[in-house]
Amino acid sequence: NVLILDFGSQYTQLIARRVRELNIFCEIKPYNHLPEDLSDYKAVILSGSPSSVRSDEAPHPDLKDIKGKIPLLGVCYGAQYIAHFHGGNVAPSKTREYGRARLSKIKEGEPFFKNITTGSQVWMSHSDTIQQLPPKAELLASTADVDIAAYKIPEEKIYAIQFHPEVYHTKDGKQLLENFLVGIAGLEQTWTPDAFVETTVEELKKEIGSEKVILGLSGGVDSTVAAVLLHKAIGKHLHCIFVNNGLLRKNEFEEVLDQYQHMGLNVKGVDASARFLDALEGEEDPEKKRKIIGGVFIDVFDDESHKVEDAKWLAQGTIYPDRIESVSASGGPSATIKSHHNVGGLPDYMKLKVVEPLKMLFKDEVRRVGATLGIADERLGRHPFPGPGLAIRILGDITRDKVAILQEVDAIFINGLREWGLYDDVWQAGAMLLPVHSVGVMGDERTYEKCVALRAVESTDGMTADWVNLPYEFLQKMSNDIINKVPGVNRVVYDISSKPPATIEWE
Ligand code: XMP
Repeated sequence: NVLILDFGSQYTQLIARRVRELNIFCEIKPYNHLPEDLSDYKAVILSGSPSSVRSDEAPHPDLKDIKGKIPLLGVCYGAQYIAHFHGGNVAPSKTREYGRARLSKIKEGEPFFKNITTGSQVWMSHSDTIQQLPPKAELLASTADVDIAAYKIPEEKIYAIQFHPEVYHTKDGKQLLENFLVGIAGLEQTWTPDAFVETTVEELKKEIGSEKVILGLSGGVDSTVAAVLLHKAIGKHLHCIFVNNGLLRKNEFEEVLDQYQHMGLNVKGVDASARFLDALEGEEDPEKKRKIIGGVFIDVFDDESHKVEDAKWLAQGTIYPDRIESVSASGGPSATIKSHHNVGGLPDYMKLKVVEPLKMLFKDEVRRVGATLGIADERLGRHPFPGPGLAIRILGDITRDKVAILQEVDAIFINGLREWGLYDDVWQAGAMLLPVHSVGVMGDERTYEKCVALRAVESTDGMTADWVNLPYEFLQKMSNDIINKVPGVNRVVYDISSKPPATIEWE
């Protein structure tokens, strides 16, 4: 196991993902919550940080239980922090150093740089520089602008680098992490999807035994993988509930329910469309719509789960990024832009023990585990779809007619993306029904009908996103098909806003 101490860098999760790609397990902890028992950790990595080591407010954790005992790698701020507190000198750079650089003067025969040669491209992002090494340190590499790009302090088992090995633009970054973790710290590369499935199934069997578990399926990747994993461990003791809130994609409820049944899952489909749509009637405010949907979902789920007699557990598809405690620079809570009702889970009154079999996995690992479990690529590669569904893509109040129109438009767009081989180039796509009527002409008739906006974005985690440059011919075909086939729509526009400043959903 590897410990990554987070100093608040935007790249910390990327370090963890690179380590996992090497089939080595790792955990992220905030620098100020250093675990008391370090005996499980065979290596520690210090992340970068937006702070300067010279500032009083910067993270200054006590590393005495790590230094000299566990191999330690400092990245960027981590490297500066180690230098600063070992008698080296860190000062502001004369010029801010961002972007690509090339390694030079790599120390010959150094195991840390095994299979990495002079000229290898690295990525820099810092405004302080290590000007002078600590007394017992040895220089390992430089770049044209940065004399001290890498160093080690052998008697403390410390390695340190000014550049970021975790980012894509550091070409040999993964090799460097492997050199440190495998070559120097002696870790084994045994964290594979197969091994994860095997040990997790054993643990779930032991933990749950023959008690009953309830799980809410959404059709999404996480809940599906969690269900299949639990099913492998406890079979029919897993009771899945799949709720139709009436705001799903066209035919999604029937098709997905069918797929779940074919996977052998013990799943009950509950069509609660009317309950949701009645509760939403007349509501125009996006946050209130979310709250209504969240509330009705809990009621429906609660009713259904009481029908499973003597259930003891609630399973959830929570994944690692939902749980990582973040180091907040301001110390305060960030502003609520949108309340994603499904983050935060179900209320306490359900009084069930919670089991979260995917809680240590990143999204890409969930997909790999899903593939190992034999789940179809089509389900694993599915675009994310928001819990409140089409409700937040119908701007303003929701009616059954509007849902039906948007389902048709969305189906044309999504099927089109699949047919044109574009679906996998897009991270998320959908259509928005706008509260706008505009004049058109069909045949010789004047029309005054609805407008839809198509949205397709590329992203890695939904936090930032950019619109996808879909071919004009494709957009033309979509516009034609939608206007010809969906009565009530006479205008189609394509959304070319990035996030930020726009968000992915329009509400
Ligand atoms: P935004 O619109 O905030 O969306 O850029 C980022 C990602 O979150 C999804 N999203 C939601 N998911 N409940 C959800 O489960 C919500 O209320 C919600 N709002 C946005 C959105 O689809 C995108 O993937």
